[in-house]
Amino acid sequence: MSLRLVASNGTIKQAEVTPPVLSVALKGKSFGGRQVLGALELSIAAGQTVALTGPSGIGKSTLVRIIAGLERDFDGEVTRPERIGMVFQEPTLMPWRTVEDNLTLTTGISDIGARKALEEVGLKGRGGDFPRQLSLGQQRRLALARAFAGSPELMLLDEPFVSLDPQMADEMMGLFEQLCARRKVASLIVTHSAEEAKRLATRILRLDGSPARIVQG
Ligand SMILES: Nc1ncnc2c1ncn2[C@@H]1O[C@H](COP(=O)(O)OP(=O)(O)OP(=O)(O)O)[C@@H](O)[C@H]1O
Ligand SMILES: [Mg+2]
Repeated sequence: MSLRLVASNGTIKQAEVTPPVLSVALKGKSFGGRQVLGALELSIAAGQTVALTGPSGIGKSTLVRIIAGLERDFDGEVTRPERIGMVFQEPTLMPWRTVEDNLTLTTGISDIGARKALEEVGLKGRGGDFPRQLSLGQQRRLALARAFAGSPELMLLDEPFVSLDPQMADEMMGLFEQLCARRKVASLIVTHSAEEAKRLATRILRLDGSPARIVQG
């Protein structure tokens, strides 16, 4: 999209205005008559990482599910891109499929693409193994590789680095930063860790109140 800007001296400038990758205009979300989320607005542009923090049970995962299109019963509007990558707290791999199948089946990438993706996350040569043959850290790296494999425009991560030892968490965050830097993806990352939010995010938002709203942004 481009915009014509006219300066006071009459010169005309052409400015590029990039529409956000994600826009949320939520009016509310209730579960069985109990309103969990109130009105809130959120938009994320390509290349931005937004951290979403807030107390347990406030509605962070619910908001992520609404954004992902997994939760459809809400009041408001979400404009999301077609290609979305998701990473959850648990790696959510298919245990009966090989590591390579876990990458190719859900994303449609080629075998060569899968091998490249495995190499990128330090799992070179492990394509024929099954998820149970990988350590938890390796399974998480596979889940991260899978989320990035479909060239997502938007990445949604719900506490992806929780309960990892500090060194592994640091390694995973480094990997996430690397994968983000190579693509111009918009990311929303739910985290309880202020340190994680500060390191990864260009903007930090906090959900609080009842019903929950963005109280800081
Ligand atoms: N499917 C559901 N049915 C009924 N209530 C639900 C459902 N999913 C979530 N809730 C309720 O909505 C509220 C928000 O839950 P949510 O999982 O979004 O919180 P959260 O901020 O992600 O918490 P945590 O930090 O512990 O993961 C909670 O009170 C929860 O009990
Ligand atoms: Mg949650």
